[in-house]
Amino acid sequence: MKHYYIKTFGCQMNVYDSERIADILQTLGYREASSPREADLIIFNTCHIREKAAEKVFSDLGRINLIKEERREQGKETTIGVVGCVVQAEDEQIAKRAPFVDFATGPLTYHRIPEILAKVNRKKGIPVIDTEFPAESKFDFLPQNSNSLSCAFLAVQEGCNNFCTYCVVPYTRGAEYSRPVKEIVEEARRLVQNGALEINLLGQNVNSYHGEDTAGKERPLSYLLRELAKIDGLKRLRYTTSYPADMTDDLIECHRDLDKLMPYLHLPVQSGSDKILKAMNRRHTSSDYLKVIEKLHKANPDIGMSSDFIVGFPGETDEDFQATLDIVNQVKYIQAFSFKYSRRAGTPAALLKNQIEEKVKKERLDILQNLLFSYQLKFNKDSVGKIMPVLFESRGRGRNQLFGRTPYMQNLHAELDKSCLNKIINIKITEATTNSLIGVMEGGTPCQK
Ligand code: 5AD
Ligand code: SF4
Repeated sequence: MKHYYIKTFGCQMNVYDSERIADILQTLGYREASSPREADLIIFNTCHIREKAAEKVFSDLGRINLIKEERREQGKETTIGVVGCVVQAEDEQIAKRAPFVDFATGPLTYHRIPEILAKVNRKKGIPVIDTEFPAESKFDFLPQNSNSLSCAFLAVQEGCNNFCTYCVVPYTRGAEYSRPVKEIVEEARRLVQNGALEINLLGQNVNSYHGEDTAGKERPLSYLLRELAKIDGLKRLRYTTSYPADMTDDLIECHRDLDKLMPYLHLPVQSGSDKILKAMNRRHTSSDYLKVIEKLHKANPDIGMSSDFIVGFPGETDEDFQATLDIVNQVKYIQAFSFKYSRRAGTPAALLKNQIEEKVKKERLDILQNLLFSYQLKFNKDSVGKIMPVLFESRGRGRNQLFGRTPYMQNLHAELDKSCLNKIINIKITEATTNSLIGVMEGGTPCQK
């Protein structure tokens, strides 16, 4: 029997894609290996969003080649494949910098892996590279999502037409595409039958979703959420990542009407400065963004916000950076991701003359992160003493520890019997740090079922 090992870099969409690749490989008779050394097929699912992410892929590939050589000395052949956004953007670089790679395929063509593997066997030594933007949708060719996790991802939309001037996604993931409503509802039902309690709908620009229903009518994300909320057994819904200008009133109303929709929203603002937002080609100002948040809070006063930030975008002055700090102080994010601007070849911002020095970027990132962490810590500390329903999705670090998430996506560890795994349990929060909570089962009675 042949074994595969997949290493995933980057976003949740890549995690989803890796799970689908595993499904394909299982239909081909492969089983999962516990480490790359035991694998006949090693696949890297890659990320190109920032330079650091892409460089990590190349350095890790070098290490994998050593394993390939070690295995060869033991008389075992290893196929190495690279999948995802680095392939779409740098197919020639892969052939040059990692000539030992046997195949490479972009994020929209990995459903062709069975044919690609057959070609690899025929064309020994010549890498097979497929970076087409295919006319067909990969979703029509993927085997059923066989995920059996309590906390599942479901891709509903892919690609992006926004063309933020710093971002590679419109070039690596291509134009926006929404999957039909029926296909998504069926996949969600299967996930729930396999034990999913929570489904996180994924898309690069998930709230611009406009998939067709069976009558051929285009439906927005709010419609999809309302349909999915009807599924018995499904307890929690989330969606990510949203674009501020596409937060329509019908979608905001879902946060008022749907109990299953969790009170947490990742809504990247990127910068608090209108000048920088314009240069980024974002279709919103800081006040548009704040208005959306106000409406969300009216719909559900409990909602906790999360965001992405970029510091040191070309032309960012101290005042522009201060505007970013101001928006953080207004929104008081409960979680956030922040990055130094990374100059990506092929994007319009890479050509701007007024690039910011690395030292300034680093200083601004430190200041921003300290501020963000202070709000995150405050939110977590304020959770102490509260009772929250926690979905325990995996084993924790300690022997009798389980790991779960609160409705606000906070990480939580608790000493619990393993029979509590894949259940939602009321937990009293006892301790908090910036990144996680500790809690005990409310009432202290051990989990029975
Ligand atoms: N440099 C830094 N951060 C970036 N992001 C996207 N492109 C870049 C870039 N060139 C960030 C944005 C986005 C997140 C996924 O990654 O904040 O929301
Ligand atoms: Fe990139 Fe902007 Fe599209 Fe997000 S909305 S994927 S940042 S182009």
